[in-house]
Amino acid sequence: MFRSLLSVGSLLLGLASAGTVVWDGKFNDYSSSADLNNWSWANQVGSYQYYIHGTGAVTKYVNLSPSFKNPADTSSNQGVKVTIDPTALWNSDMWRTELIPQTKANLGTGRLYYHFSMKKTGTNSPNPAYEHQVNFFESHFTEMKYGWINGNASPAPDNNLRWFVGGQSKWNVDWVPDVWHNFAYDINFSSGTVTLWHSTGSAALTQVAGPFSASTSTNSADWHLGVLRLPNRSGGTNAQGAEDWYYSGVYVESGTINTSVGTGGGTSPPPTTTVPVSTPPTSVPTTAPPAPTGPLAPKYGQCGGIGWAGATACVSGSTCSKINDYYSQCI
Ligand SMILES: *[C@@H]1O[C@H](CO)[C@@H](O)[C@H](O)[C@H]1NC(C)=O
Ligand SMILES: *[C@@H]1O[C@H](CO)[C@@H](O)[C@H](O)[C@H]1NC(C)=O
Ligand SMILES: *[C@@H]1O[C@H](CO)[C@@H](O)[C@H](O)[C@H]1NC(C)=O
Ligand SMILES: *[C@@H]1O[C@H](CO)[C@@H](O)[C@H](O)[C@H]1NC(C)=O
Repeated sequence: MFRSLLSVGSLLLGLASAGTVVWDGKFNDYSSSADLNNWSWANQVGSYQYYIHGTGAVTKYVNLSPSFKNPADTSSNQGVKVTIDPTALWNSDMWRTELIPQTKANLGTGRLYYHFSMKKTGTNSPNPAYEHQVNFFESHFTEMKYGWINGNASPAPDNNLRWFVGGQSKWNVDWVPDVWHNFAYDINFSSGTVTLWHSTGSAALTQVAGPFSASTSTNSADWHLGVLRLPNRSGGTNAQGAEDWYYSGVYVESGTINTSVGTGGGTSPPPTTTVPVSTPPTSVPTTAPPAPTGPLAPKYGQCGGIGWAGATACVSGSTCSKINDYYSQCI
C-alpha cells in the first residue's frame, strides 16, 4: 500500500517537475491594472514597477482580465493586455509600455528561466512594418522582436516573431493571431549562455534553440515585460493605429525548468501554424516572410499590402482582410 502510493507519488512528481519560483509576475495579486499605480519610486510595492508608459491613465496602456491569459494556465487568474499608441511616449519618440519586476530577489544569478506566454488577436494587431522589441533586458542580450527589423535590407513588412541573442535572430515563427506562444528564456548567468524553450497552446515547452553565448547580466530591475516600437525608419509619419499585446504566465524560476504551461483547456494550434523553424544565416539577421506557394495564400498567410508580390487570394475557408497598408492576412 505504502509502496504503491509512493510510486504513484514519484510518477506525479516526475510528470510535474518544477524548480523554485524566484519572482512571480502572474498578476494574481492585482485586482485591476489600477493597482500598478500603487507603485512609485518612493513606495515600491506590488510585483511590478510601472513607470515606462505614456501620459494617459493606466487603463489606456495596461489592462487585466481572465480573458487575456492562456486558458491552459490554471495557475494564473488573469493575463495582461499591453497597449501602445501615439500617446505611449516615454523619454523618446518610441512607443513604449513596459513593466519591470519589483523584487528583492536576485534575477541575474545562476541558471534562471524567464517564463511568459504571448499572443496577439486580429484587433489592434501589431504593425509588422515596424521593429518591436519585446520582453527585453536593458542590454538587449536576449529578447523577442517582431516586425521589420530596422536597417534590414529586405522589404517591410515582416510577420515573424523572432528570438534575438546579442542582436542576431536565432529562431523565428510566422506570428498568426489567436495562438498562444509559450516561451522560457533559459539563461545561465555563470556560463553566459541563453537557450530558448517554446510551445503553443497547452503543449509542454521544448528546447528549440541554443545554447548561445551572450553577455548575460541584469540588475534584477531591467527586464521589460511589454513592448517598445521603433519610429518610422524613414523619419516620416508613423502609422497611428494602436497595438494590443497579450501576456500571461509570467514568472522567473530557478533549478529545474517547469515545462508545463498548465492543465487547463488551452487549444492546440491549427496545423497551419506549425511553421518549420529556421535560423537565418548570421550574416543576414532577418529574412522576409516566405512567399506563399501557388496562387492561393494559406489561412493566416499574407495576401496583400504595399510591396506584397505574392498571392492575393486565400484558400477556401478564409478571407483576405486588411490589417494595415502594409499587411493583409487570410483570416
Ligand atoms: C493597491 O492599493 C490598494 C488600496 O490600498 C489595495 O487595496 C491593493 O491591494 C493594492 N494592490 C497591490 C497589488 O498592492
Ligand atoms: C551554468 O554554467 C556553469 C559554468 O559553465 C556550470 O558550471 C553550471 O553547471 C551551469 N548551471 C546549470 C544549472 O546548468
Ligand atoms: C513613414 O513615413 C512616410 C512619410 O510620411 C510614409 O510614406 C510611410 O508610409 C511611413 N512608413 C511606415 C512604415 O509607416
Ligand atoms: C508548472 O507551471 C504551471 C503553469 O505556471 C503550473 O500550473 C504548475 O503548477 C507548475 N508545476 C509545478 C510542479 O509547479
